[in-house]
Amino acid sequence: MSTLQEEAGFDVDKFIEESVRRIRELNIDRALAAVSGGVDSTTAAVLVYRAIGDKLVPVFMDTGFMRLNEPEHVCSLLRKVLPHIELIDVKEEFYRELINIDDAETKRKIFRRVFYTILSRIAKERGCSWLVQGTIAPDWIETRGGIKTQHNVLEQIGLDPKREFGFKVVEPLKELYKDQVRMVARRLGVPEEIVKRQPFPGPGLLVRCVGRFYPEKLSILKIANNIVEKMLEDVGASQWFAAIWEDELTIDEELTRFVREKTGRDVEVYLFSKARGTGVKGDSRVYGPIALIRGKLPEDLLYRVYLYVTTRRPDIAHVIYELDRRSSGRFFIAIRAVITSNFMTARVAKIPLDKLYKICEKIFENCNEVSAVGYDVSPKPPATIEFE
Ligand code: XMP
Repeated sequence: MSTLQEEAGFDVDKFIEESVRRIRELNIDRALAAVSGGVDSTTAAVLVYRAIGDKLVPVFMDTGFMRLNEPEHVCSLLRKVLPHIELIDVKEEFYRELINIDDAETKRKIFRRVFYTILSRIAKERGCSWLVQGTIAPDWIETRGGIKTQHNVLEQIGLDPKREFGFKVVEPLKELYKDQVRMVARRLGVPEEIVKRQPFPGPGLLVRCVGRFYPEKLSILKIANNIVEKMLEDVGASQWFAAIWEDELTIDEELTRFVREKTGRDVEVYLFSKARGTGVKGDSRVYGPIALIRGKLPEDLLYRVYLYVTTRRPDIAHVIYELDRRSSGRFFIAIRAVITSNFMTARVAKIPLDKLYKICEKIFENCNEVSAVGYDVSPKPPATIEFE
């Protein structure tokens, strides 16, 4: 065991050896693995591949909620460790079930139902009675706590996968935390690009298409998100991305007065009327308004304004600082960048405003329908990293 591993109190080789032995003891005839290209699902599949070889059927489901050009790119990376991986296009089925749904939890639940319905169909077609899942410890801790519906957590919330969907589940990573999964991934030869990828929610861009879902909104988000991901690659954030919603605002006079008094600045506070965001309170999840601050604020106040807003209005889930606005367009793009070690708590990355303004410019240039761009200045807790 290397020194680093000893420090972490985790023996990678022993973990791999024992997992392979335990998986073999299950006497799996054929197992299906839906690999997303995230480090968790990939590592789980590669571990099971090591144990049962070609009895594993790895598939990559293109749900339509992946980032720009992601399915093809990820599949080519995955072929290095899962040579038989197959890309299956299921976009239309997801879009059909999710179109016009606006509630965050309902979207997650529908996504999960469609996901498992398709999976059980593929499992039957391929003669698989087992399903490999990349569930890790924080997934079921947060789901059990009611913070959100993780799409890959079944047994821990009392769903019997055999009865509901017709397969037994093998979850070789379910006691591990992210850093440990990365150690296992590297030891198994998973490509570094996959090991280092920033986390991406199971339901993908669906939870970043805040409020009502429809394909046009998703297409714009993909372009804006691609710009944000590329331009913030080098700022040292743990997770950074874009989210989209309708740019419809109502001014909150009372909150405006309060924030003006606190900051001494001539700002206005608005609430978005077509979008709500999620937050955490203790062990449970809340769903509240998203506020927008308009007006010049110096950097020190920028990262404190969240506190002022939520002291007065604790129901507000996220606070966004408006970076720029123009007269055409109807969508709002929020840029989110956080620093965290465990994703259970996170602070806002202090990105130089000049850099954020450049991102706005690029978004306006490439997305005609975007009317304004802002930066999310909400820490977790009380906000969540994602908006839904
Ligand atoms: P929140 O939004 O709860 O997110 O602060 C914490 C971390 O979890 C990721 N996340 C998910 N990961 N399936 C996943 O595998 C999901 O359904 C899911 N939802 C959120 C999120 O991106 C962040 O890194």
